Amino acid sequence: MKDLFTPYEMMDLKLKNRVVMPPMCQYSVHNKDGIATDWHYMHYVSRAVGGAGLIIIEMTDVEPDGRISDYDLGIWSDEHIPALARIVEACHSYGAKVGIQIAHAGRKAEDAAVPVAPSAVAFNSNSKTPRELTTSEVKEMVEKFRLGVSRAIRAGVDVIELHGAHGYLIHQFHSPLTNLRTDEYGQDLTLFGKEVIQAAKGEMPEGMPLILRISAKEYVEGGYGINESLTFSKAYKEAGADIFHISAGGEGAIAAAGQPGTHAAYQVPLAREFKQNLNVPVIAVGRLDEPVLANSVIGNEEADLVAVGRGMLRNPYWTLEAAVQLNKEADIPKQYGLGFPRIKR
Ligand SMILES: Cc1cc2nc3c(=O)[nH]c(=O)nc-3n(C[C@H](O)[C@H](O)[C@H](O)COP(=O)(O)O)c2cc1C
Repeated sequence: MKDLFTPYEMMDLKLKNRVVMPPMCQYSVHNKDGIATDWHYMHYVSRAVGGAGLIIIEMTDVEPDGRISDYDLGIWSDEHIPALARIVEACHSYGAKVGIQIAHAGRKAEDAAVPVAPSAVAFNSNSKTPRELTTSEVKEMVEKFRLGVSRAIRAGVDVIELHGAHGYLIHQFHSPLTNLRTDEYGQDLTLFGKEVIQAAKGEMPEGMPLILRISAKEYVEGGYGINESLTFSKAYKEAGADIFHISAGGEGAIAAAGQPGTHAAYQVPLAREFKQNLNVPVIAVGRLDEPVLANSVIGNEEADLVAVGRGMLRNPYWTLEAAVQLNKEADIPKQYGLGFPRIKR
């Protein structure tokens, strides 16, 4: 029987447990140059010390105007590689594997003078109206993702995650609400995402899995639901996505379609649907901070991996605490052994 501390293997990715730290923007690049700082080093390495099996570095953007804010991480230049490599190497030394979320904010780029998007549709009445990318600019954007992935690989990551969720650029292309294009990228709403996936895979070592994070449903009036997301994700699976990270929403004001996220495990039913219908490994996320609950998601085979976001912001040692509660074995730095006397090693 599998549980949260059963090792996980997918292609060449080998994790010591099934606990994932999901990407969480830190908005801490004070020089606005996209280069990771000491804050990022401390933030990620402490979760590695705290026992997480996989750490996914926050949304890291493929061009300056692809950032939500100018304080985001970037991967549009080789100058971004050394600071990321330092984080990856240190996390490895504490037994964690590292992924990075490669992204572009599209119309949600708040500090861009004029954000770009599939179509000139503003996020809401307070946000800037984006400029529609030309067809050749869309092709250049695919190339920017390819280069970003190539730099992440050079920084030593174990896995790549593409951000196809939360109303950012890839999501904007596959949502009928934000993609009103008449060219090939509007005729096939998944074309941009598929080309990004193929470009990413082209740069990745053969045995490295590609994670795609998606919003399995939109929360706006008239937004797509799980049937539509299963359909477009099937196309993404065929294009090369290996693991799906199942989130939801982020495309607009949520009021009309109900407030999500009010209950523990609120997105697990979506993850389970994906696992069963698409026959793919999935990461479940969303208010899974109770170890017994997170463990049950694995034990009941609703997901292959469980991500704990805000729970890890509160407690970098979430994984070690979970091992104590669940009476499981865990790697623990010898310096901290006395703090966790009940953990089996
Ligand atoms: C501070 C913060 C920053 C976040 N930044 C990102 C991000 O960069 N990329 C992303 O896909 N999700 C982001 N998220 C969403 C989380 O990855 C996660 O899906 C969400 O917090 C729900 O999980 P939780 O209930 O365990 O926190 C962020 C969440 C928080 C709290």
